[in-house]
Amino acid sequence: MKQDLLTFKEWSKDGLENLLTLATKIKQNPAEFSEVLQGKSIVALFEKPSLRTRVSFDIGINKLGGHMVYLDSQAGKLAGREDAKDMGANLACWADAIIARVYSHSTLQQMSEAASVPVINALCDLYHPCQALADFLTLREIHGELEGLTLAYVGDGNNVTHSLMIVGAILGVNVVSVTPPGYEADSELVAVAKELATNSGASISQSNDIGAAKGANVLYTDTWLSMGDTTPLEQIRKTFDPYMVNEQMMQATGAKYVMHCQPAHRDLEISGNLIDSEQSLLLQQAENRMHGQNAILTHLFGSDSQ
Ligand code: CP
Ligand code: NVA
Repeated sequence: MKQDLLTFKEWSKDGLENLLTLATKIKQNPAEFSEVLQGKSIVALFEKPSLRTRVSFDIGINKLGGHMVYLDSQAGKLAGREDAKDMGANLACWADAIIARVYSHSTLQQMSEAASVPVINALCDLYHPCQALADFLTLREIHGELEGLTLAYVGDGNNVTHSLMIVGAILGVNVVSVTPPGYEADSELVAVAKELATNSGASISQSNDIGAAKGANVLYTDTWLSMGDTTPLEQIRKTFDPYMVNEQMMQATGAKYVMHCQPAHRDLEISGNLIDSEQSLLLQQAENRMHGQNAILTHLFGSDSQ
């Protein structure tokens, strides 16, 4: 039966650890994996803009011996032209897998039901699983061991927060999300992450108080306005300004490293100097997007026993 990669929610700790190990193997020995996707064509469609996801999938697929077809749907939602399920069924006639960045998670679900080939979530309203995989790969490279680490997410509770909580909960990483009141992560997904954490022993929590980030190994932030959010920046600045991740917050919390999925907005959610500092893991995260995704593709195509 075909497998998708939509959320990571159903993955085990061993499964995720093996996927991270596979990503490291691919990163260290790319030549060994250069034929994993030989003769395969993968469609990547984007309802929203992208730099990292688009380019890392395109170049990564090429390195695995495959071919990516970029489908530009940035002019609007796919549903306007035809149903997502019809699109998925048609794409599966030619493509060996579908990568999609969409507004609504339900679009991915409809495509997955209709398509006989794997569907990979390249970001939706609720999740950004490929990002979280790269982020925990980065933390594993830095710390060696993930279990017991604490990641404090500071800013807007969003798709990235959800995936960090879910993947962190499975891997045994404590995740605390610190947001302004009214901008918390989705309560149902936080409950899912808490439930997953009962197996690993991780702590998953939320707070409006920046003091909750004290003692974290790493601070993580993301844009205050996710793609598609048309709230005027000035309107949210006042609310979010105290949550800006900067040198002062790093000192106050004692965090050694800072992470951001990017695109970053210098001197808004994160200080520009911090991005450029030795504490910054941003480029390592970006590089690891490709290795993590190539591990996902290698796994989905059943070549992870190499
Ligand atoms: N982090 C991330 O997904 O970046 P892009 O939006 O540029 O793909
Ligand atoms: N939360 C951001 C992530 C961008 C990679 C967004 O959805 O726009």
